[in-house]
Amino acid sequence: MLVLGIESSCDETGIALYDSAAGLLSHALYSQVAMHAEYGGVVPELASRDHIRRVVPLLRETLIKAGRKLDDVDAVAYTRGPGLAGALLVGCAFAEALAVALDKPTIPVHHLEGHLLSPLLSSDPPTFPFVALLVSGGHTQLMRVEGVGRYEMLGETLDDAAGEAFDKSGKLLGLPYPGGALLSKLAEQGRPEVYMLPRPMLHSGDLNFSFSGLKTAVLMLVREQGETLTAEFKANAARAFQEAMVEVLLKKSLKALKQNGLKRLVVAGGVGANKQLRSTLNSEAKRKGFRVHYPELDFCTDNGAMIALAGCLRLQSGTPAKEAGQFAIQPRWPLMEMSDQRTA
Ligand code: KG4
Ligand code: ZN
Repeated sequence: MLVLGIESSCDETGIALYDSAAGLLSHALYSQVAMHAEYGGVVPELASRDHIRRVVPLLRETLIKAGRKLDDVDAVAYTRGPGLAGALLVGCAFAEALAVALDKPTIPVHHLEGHLLSPLLSSDPPTFPFVALLVSGGHTQLMRVEGVGRYEMLGETLDDAAGEAFDKSGKLLGLPYPGGALLSKLAEQGRPEVYMLPRPMLHSGDLNFSFSGLKTAVLMLVREQGETLTAEFKANAARAFQEAMVEVLLKKSLKALKQNGLKRLVVAGGVGANKQLRSTLNSEAKRKGFRVHYPELDFCTDNGAMIALAGCLRLQSGTPAKEAGQFAIQPRWPLMEMSDQRTA
C-alpha cells in the first residue's frame, strides 16, 4: 500500500511517499522560516499563501525521487490539525481534490500523532509500549503509548510549551525567530552554572510542566544587565536556560518511566533535536539501563514523512480511510480524542 503524506499545519510544507512494505520511499520539505523571521514569528496569512506555492513542486519532486506516478498512490494522508486554520486548509483542500481526481480515499491525520510515531521511521525503531516525551513548539506532553491510537496522557505543560520557551528566551537574548536551535548553539559557547535559573515544577509530585516562569527568569536576568548584553552574558544565560529545561525534561521523563514500569523512552518534536537534551538522556539511559529513541534529525521538526507514516499505520490498525471530497480541518484538536484509551 502506497500512502502519500501532506503536512501544512504551520510553516513547513512537507510531502512524502510511504510504502507499507518498503518503508519511506521519498520526501521533500520546504521551510518558510526565513520568510517569517523578518516578522519575528509566523504570519498565518503568509504561511497559507506559501503552502499554495510549494505544494505542487514538492509533490513532483517526491514522485520523481521515488520513481513513482500519482496513479500508484493508494491513499492520501494529510494533517487535519492541530495548527493554523488557513495553512491546514491548503493541505486539506489539495489532498481532498487530488484524491477525488485519483478516485482514492483520504486519511486525515493528527499532527501530534505524526510526531509521536516519527521514531518508527528510524533504522532502530522502538517497540510498543513506550513512554513518549513530545516536545514541540506548541506542545509538551508525556504519554504512555501502547500502540497506534492507544495513548494515555501522563502529564503536560500548564502554560508555555518547551519549544515556545526556547523561542521566547532566544528572542529575549536578541536571537531571530525561531530562537530554539540558535539558543542551543549559543549555549554550547556558554560556561555551565554561571547563572542558576529555576526548575519549574520539578518537585510538583506529578508529571506536569510549566515553563513561563523560566522564561520570566531569563527576562529578569536580561534586565539586570542594563542596556547592552555582552556575547559572554548571552552564551552563559543561554546555557543556564538550557540546563534548567533539560533537567526538568530529564527528571520528569525518568519519573514517567519508573511510574509505568517501562524501559523505553521516545523523544519527538522539534526540541528533540536539542543536543544537550539528547546527550543528557543518552548518558542517563546508559547509567540506568533504559533505551531512548529519537526520530532522525530531519524528522524531529515538521515533515510529510511522519504524516504518511501515521496515515499508513492508521489504515493498518483498522481505522477506515475516508471517501475523498469532504473538507475536514481541526485547528484545535486534543490528541486524546484520537485515543481508544482516554485518561486525563
Ligand atoms: O515540532 P516542531 O517543528 O513544530 C511544532 O509542531 O510545534 O517544533 C518546533 C520547535 C520550535 O519551538 C523550535 O525552536 C524548536 O522546536 N527547536 C529546538 C531545536 N530545534 C528546533 N529547540 C531546542 N533546541 C533545538 N536544537
Ligand atoms: Zn510539529
